[in-house]
Amino acid sequence: MEQEIPKIFEEAQDFMPINGTDYIEMYVSNSKQAAHFYQTAFGFQPLAYAGLSTGRKDSESYVLVQGKIRLMLTSPLSKGTEIGRHIDDHGDGVKTIALWVENATYAYHEAVKRGAKSFFEPTEESDNEGRIVKSGIYTYGETTHVFMERKDYNGTFLPAFQKWESPYQPAEIGLNYIDHMVGNVALGEMNQWVEFYKKVMGFAQIVSFDDKDISTEYTALMSKVVSNGNGRIKFPINEPAVGKRRSQIEEYLDFYGTGGVQHIAVATDNIIETVSQLRQRGVDFLHVPDNYYDVVLDRVGEIDEDLQPLKDLNILIDRDDEGYLLQIFTKPVGPRPTVFFEIIQRKGAQSFGKGNFQALFEAIEREQALRGTL
Ligand code: FE2
Repeated sequence: MEQEIPKIFEEAQDFMPINGTDYIEMYVSNSKQAAHFYQTAFGFQPLAYAGLSTGRKDSESYVLVQGKIRLMLTSPLSKGTEIGRHIDDHGDGVKTIALWVENATYAYHEAVKRGAKSFFEPTEESDNEGRIVKSGIYTYGETTHVFMERKDYNGTFLPAFQKWESPYQPAEIGLNYIDHMVGNVALGEMNQWVEFYKKVMGFAQIVSFDDKDISTEYTALMSKVVSNGNGRIKFPINEPAVGKRRSQIEEYLDFYGTGGVQHIAVATDNIIETVSQLRQRGVDFLHVPDNYYDVVLDRVGEIDEDLQPLKDLNILIDRDDEGYLLQIFTKPVGPRPTVFFEIIQRKGAQSFGKGNFQALFEAIEREQALRGTL
């Protein structure tokens, strides 16, 4: 979808043009069952597969698609693998945010020259559908960015993957594209990673929250948002702020072991329908107290939707200068209180919902108290 470029993004130095998110790869302990979950609960469709039957010996990957979102789920096939070690250290989590670029060799050399740590050097792969070039760098924790150049490729997904044919195709639920992906980093490291995205990737900082904006009695966080030049890639980066008790960001860091992706925000054009579907399919969301809805319209003003279905579904509302947005957060999708999803519908607003940040924060804290990890 073509987006208008707000002025705020023009500060980005676009030496590394990025067309969008290419795919997200999660390392998971059971890729086959995880794929079933994302099909059944989130309405992702089967796209591509690589594993024993395609000649891959050490791991297997299922790739699912919905709208412009491609999700790759990878598990190891034997003991002692790097993927297995990653899962042992972090639990299921996001390993790679792949970025679709025009030139993966240039992007890699430019990023490394500007201080990025290499994940892997530019590598070409081809099959009878053409060729791709990919390269990779590290970002916070063990998370990586893969630069994907696919202008000379016409296949289903990537060389070495087969089309994944499955008769099991629960209906899509209206997820269109990745709106943003949030990283949690250790105390004192937020500015360093903001600088990383500015210097290494040419991003601009577009928003910041501090602990005066977002805090509860016990915990606080600080957050800054970086974006690339066309605004299609937005990465909020959170660090814990000092509070009376363990913050949710610290809880994440304790369970994940390092910095990592906290949530994946996916956009829909009809959040009421999307969230109704997700709830029917068994996805758990954070609960917002009913009294949130008593005063929310005083805060955000008039909206197109009826308030009642938003309240019934626990969808949050926030406004900025350009419009408003509707959003909701799932509970963590794995056993550890780490990665979760956000569903977002933007109605003009380009921001991230400071008021909702606060509501989210309080909701997570209630969950934390139930887990006994506050
Ligand atoms: Fe978010």
